[in-house]
Amino acid sequence: MLQLPDLSPLLGWYEKNKRDLPWRHTKDPYRIWVSEIMLQQTRVEAVLPYYARFLDTLPTVSALANAEEALLLKLWEGLGYYSRVRNMAKAARTVMTAHGGVFPHTYEDIRALCGIGDYTAGAIASFAFDLPYPAVDGNVLRVAARLLCYEKDVLSPAAKKELTAAVQAQIKRLPPAPLNQALMELGATVCLPNGTPRCEACPLREDCAALAHGMQNALPIRKKPQKRRKEEKTVLILRIADRIALQKRPETGLLAGLFEPPCLTGRLSADEVREHLLKTGLVPLRIAPLGDAKHIFTHLEWHMTGFEILLDENAATRLPQALFLAPREKIDNDYALPSAYAAYRAFM
Ligand code: ADE
Repeated sequence: MLQLPDLSPLLGWYEKNKRDLPWRHTKDPYRIWVSEIMLQQTRVEAVLPYYARFLDTLPTVSALANAEEALLLKLWEGLGYYSRVRNMAKAARTVMTAHGGVFPHTYEDIRALCGIGDYTAGAIASFAFDLPYPAVDGNVLRVAARLLCYEKDVLSPAAKKELTAAVQAQIKRLPPAPLNQALMELGATVCLPNGTPRCEACPLREDCAALAHGMQNALPIRKKPQKRRKEEKTVLILRIADRIALQKRPETGLLAGLFEPPCLTGRLSADEVREHLLKTGLVPLRIAPLGDAKHIFTHLEWHMTGFEILLDENAATRLPQALFLAPREKIDNDYALPSAYAAYRAFM
């Protein structure tokens, strides 16, 4: 296992240098929970006024559990990611029903609450209950990666596991609440990201492997997830009375073997679609735009526009070979259509 240097110098440093933040004056798990959820993806200074107002309005788990959704959304307006507060309300109701209104005090029960992941569970368990669990957020990953001169991608799950285990080993020998706070604080105020660490102010500089190797600006390594390729396409809902033209996708590759309406490459205008159809010998009676839609796959995005095109009965014999006509009422049962086309499904 990776061995971090002795972190005890951090504790004295933290006592001297910590910022005075309201959630550091409480052991109330509810107040700590609210702070940690707000601090996810929002800066400390931005959180402060929201935090005070939220707790003035909803001072207990029970108040949160019973709050109207409109009030919750109002209290959260400006913080973004509203699912965070919706999940909190759901978890508060679980605390009321499954835990008799008392915030659970084991890591497992805390972790099981809606919207609480490993990091938040570790933060609440250690700050409120002094339980020996690590709370490894982006700041702490950076600190650990630099102390160890860790050159693997810290965004990979394996790296997170390895670095978390290294912090966990230290938590067993030092007081968990101040140690977790101190690691976060060091990351937020000294061991800064983007090549600007203030190593001269660091209580661990003697033991930092990255500093010893001159790697402090280069670490941590964060490999960006691969960019998704974007494809633009025009979806044609070709309709002849009550039948729709479909084709079967190839048996291998993306959405293998599923059925779909014919598509053209690029996002075309109605005039361009008409021109294309006339070239293939089809005379549209009417072309109606169906609007734009997007579908996101893991490595690919489809940016689509769609048209409903009415053809006369004679067109049935002139359709390109790959297409066949499916009766609309049979599409649901007989032809598996990818949800990527959901925006246009109502017109098929
Ligand atoms: N960011 C996330 N949790 C924090 C905490 N407890 N103190 C300061 N910043 C934080």
